[in-house]
This record gives sequence, C-alpha cells and structure tokens, in this order.
Amino acid sequence: MYKLSISPVFLLALISAVPGSLAQTTTAASAEPTATSNAKLHTVAKAAGKLYFGSATDNPELTNVQYISILNDSATFGQITPANSLKWDATEPARGDFNFSGGDQIVNLARANGQLLRGHNCVWHSQLPDWVSDGNFDAATLTSILQTHCSTVVGRYQGEMYSWDVVNEPFNDDGTMRSFVFTDTLGSSYIDIALQAAKAADPNTKLYINDFNIEGPGVKSTAMQNLVKDLKSRGIPIDGVGIQAHLIVGELPADIQQNIEAFTALGVEVAITELDIRMDLPATPDKLAQQKTDYQTVVSACNNVSECIGVTIWDFSDLVSWIPGTFPGQGAACPWDENFVKKPAYDGIVIGFQ
Ligand code: G3I
Repeated sequence: MYKLSISPVFLLALISAVPGSLAQTTTAASAEPTATSNAKLHTVAKAAGKLYFGSATDNPELTNVQYISILNDSATFGQITPANSLKWDATEPARGDFNFSGGDQIVNLARANGQLLRGHNCVWHSQLPDWVSDGNFDAATLTSILQTHCSTVVGRYQGEMYSWDVVNEPFNDDGTMRSFVFTDTLGSSYIDIALQAAKAADPNTKLYINDFNIEGPGVKSTAMQNLVKDLKSRGIPIDGVGIQAHLIVGELPADIQQNIEAFTALGVEVAITELDIRMDLPATPDKLAQQKTDYQTVVSACNNVSECIGVTIWDFSDLVSWIPGTFPGQGAACPWDENFVKKPAYDGIVIGFQ
C-alpha cells in the first residue's frame, strides 16, 4: 500500500508559512525581561482622565488568534486606527472606484468591541495611486478629485469616527511644505480643500493634521503651529494635531510636554497617534529598560496636558510592526514582543498614566 510520507522539516516550513498558524502561537517564550503590571492600558488611561489608549491594526493580522484576542480586549485598547485600509490606494484605486472592504472590516470590529476609531487618512503623499500622481490634472480637476475622495471616504463612516487624519505628513523636516501632486498643483490650499470636504461629510468628527518629527520643539513643530494659526485665522476647520511619535530608544527629544502645550495653546487638541520606539536588534535587557523609560516619558508628557486626549501605538506586537521592513536591523519597537509577551515598555505606559 502507498504510504504518504512528509518530512518533519517540510511540515515545519509549511506551518510557518501560514499566517496566523500554530507556528506563531507555539514559539518558545522570550528569555528577555517582561512586564510585571496586570493593569489594562485603556482602563489606566481612562482613570487618568484620557479619552482612550489605542492601537493601529491591519487587516492581514486579524486572522491570528492570539493577536485578535488582545486587540478585541476593550479594557486594553479603547481605540483602533486602521493602519492601511483607509488610505487612498486602498479606498480609491481607480478614479471613482471606491472600495471599503478592508475599512469596513476594521470599523465593524471596533464597533462590536465598543472601541473608538481614528480615520487614517484622506490625503497623503504616500500610498497615493499613480492615477492621481501622474494624471496631469489641472487645478480645477484635482480640486474636484480631492473633494470627491475626502467627502466619500469620510462620509462613508459618518458618525463612526472619533477623528480623522484629514491631512497626513504635510511638511518636510525643515518645515517647508512637502512637494507632491497636490502642493505642486494647488499649493497649500489643498489642505483647506481637504479639511472643508471632510467637515461637510461628517460635521462631528474631529479633523486632524498628523505628522512625524513634531514630538519636540523645532522648525517642523513651528511650521505646524503656524499652519494651525493660519487655518484658524481664516476660519478653516481644524480640531487637532496628531503627533505620530515614531521614536528611537534613548533618543527622545527634550521638552515633549512643553511642545504639546505649544499646540494646545492654539486651541486645538493633541493626540499621540502612532507611537513606537525602535532599537538596534537584538533587544537586550538594558535596551528594554531604556525603552520602558522612553514609553513612560512620552505617555507622561501627554498625561500631564489635559488637552492631549489619548495615545495610540502603531500596532502592539513586534510580530506585525512595520519597523523591520523599513529599517533593516532595527525593531522590537512595540510593547508586546513577537510572541505576544508584554515587555517592560508595557509597565512604562502604565506608570506614564499615573
Ligand atoms: O497592499 C500591498 C500588497 O498588495 C502586496 O502584496 C504587499 C507586498 O509587499 O504590499 C502591500 O502593501 C504594503 C502596505 O503596507 C499594506 O500592507 C506596502 O508594501 C507597505 O510598504 C505598506 O507599509 C505601510 C506604510 O505605512 C507605508 O508607508 C505600513 O504597513 C504602515 O504601518 C505605515 O504607516 C505609516 C502611517 O500611515 C503614516 N505614518 C508613518 C507610518 C509608518 O510608515
């Protein structure tokens, strides 16, 4: 009789290749130091008077059973941000051809869990389809394309989103406006157009501009403050500034709290929107201890300013973090490791809210 024989090595390779498979759930526990707190992060944030503690998530991860059981715990995460599925390339891959399958999946999940949502994003230079960037549209056509996109995407989720990153990453690090098809054709007026379209589509969602490298004082933070002042002086709707906070262990800017206060003094709220703190791999006990301190520093800076309304991490597990793919040799940026074990950084967040 024919006997099927599969080599154990082949079997292991097969299991490892399946996302969300057993292989991800049976890896040996980490030998590194781990968190000691049993407090839940959103519960702690609420007790401190914040609106939420949250995480980004992405559709492919939702099949991993360990991942989803943590994400669904609304005492841990009171807020969710779709990391990719509401971006322009996902929602309008061809002109007028809208697709909300990925966005709906995450919105439905958050609704079922009673979690707040941040929409991300209406207009950004990245993940922008070629039909927009290379279409050689004149100003009137591009204005109409932007209005249609923002009002359709924001309107789809009217009443569902606590806030929207209407404009993402408008500045270069030197504080000048980033060049891409919208600034090149419409100048900075594209920001007004996007904010006004979003306001008309969902009058109650909070309209944010979101950027990185504005965690501490400097030319880029000043440029963002000048933009907020200008928008407010002209009656263009703006409710919040999102400080992304993609940071590096041991290299935090000074004066994060004072910098947050410089924004809130302008009459907008602030949220930490994409927090992660990466290190050169491998992780060591020393680096993990510094990372704990750094998470505490950022959370505490937000906690100390009443108009800093919440903190979102840019996904919670090193298994799914964007960092290693973008910064080879770096990683371990999240509060949970790749085996879903809580790291000392978790304790740093809890302490930061006290
Ligand atoms: O969708 C394609 C898929 O069809 C293809 O098979 C696969 C092959 O690589 O790529 C998929 O696209 C990837 C996309 O994520 C969706 O998973 C891109 O390659 C990948 O580059 C993209 O990365 C995202 C990145 O934004 C793009 O700049 C990250 O997941 C996402 O976490 C990251 O998020 C940004 C924020 O939106 C803005 N702030 C910075 C932050 C980190 O870069």
